[in-house]
Amino acid sequence: MSAEIIDGKAAAARLRARVGEIAAAFEAVAGRKAGLAVVLVGADPASSVYVKSKGKATVAANMASFEHRLPADTTEADLLALVDALNADPAVDGILVQLPLPKHIRESVVLTRIDPDKDVDGFHPVNAGRLATGLNGFVPCTPLGCLMLLEEQLGDLSGLDAVVIGRSNIVGKPMAALLTKASATVTVAHSRTKDLSSHVARADIVVAAVGIPHFVKGEWIKPGATVIDVGINRTEDGLTGDVDFDGAASVAGAITPVPGGVGPMTIACLLRNTIVAAHRNAG
Ligand code: GUN
Repeated sequence: MSAEIIDGKAAAARLRARVGEIAAAFEAVAGRKAGLAVVLVGADPASSVYVKSKGKATVAANMASFEHRLPADTTEADLLALVDALNADPAVDGILVQLPLPKHIRESVVLTRIDPDKDVDGFHPVNAGRLATGLNGFVPCTPLGCLMLLEEQLGDLSGLDAVVIGRSNIVGKPMAALLTKASATVTVAHSRTKDLSSHVARADIVVAAVGIPHFVKGEWIKPGATVIDVGINRTEDGLTGDVDFDGAASVAGAITPVPGGVGPMTIACLLRNTIVAAHRNAG
């Protein structure tokens, strides 16, 4: 193995500590804590674990956590009424509706009901548009965390060749927008891409977000490249990423592990977005 292993857990701990300090200073000036509301509909076990850890991290960072757990048969109208109440609540700076939602609720209707200035997930089309046009808004937490790891590792990304594998609204598209803004030359690859290996072979930066275990092969990677693995796939062998880690680590310059790479940065960036929201909403 030659690659440096990027320690996302340590980077996330540093970011959380910094957010905690800023949140304490916010409370001293504003006379209230910054607040994050997390809404969970139903009892999906993985979502339940995520929501619990988001709440704990929020409190540890000197912010108030408002948790709303609703039954699986909650109507769309009732969920929208809760979103409206949270939009109007001055103690709530950020709102996160945990996905996936039960099938009878339309995700797009709920996500577009959230006040864009409280949309700390960055999923509202207004925030997607702000990102695409270079305006200040909220950037989805996972790609924001990936960008922070890349900039910590490489410094200036300007002129570097980046390949983003995956074109989801939550990761691939915002990741490509962030890398473009950072002046990288960006290729967005996906399931229909022809000869993916030739694109990856040219890349100084590879971001894999396809959700297929070991999809990106070690022999595709350019020697010295930086590899960011967004995949969290539950397999018989436990959690694995989208990248053939052992193969890629023997040629890459640096690589994120799964777990312990991108994952911890996602919650840290959620806290970061929440304290930014508090300052914007209080100002
Ligand atoms: N479900 C899995 N990850 C996320 C996330 O980052 N935000 C929301 N809202 N739901 C999720």
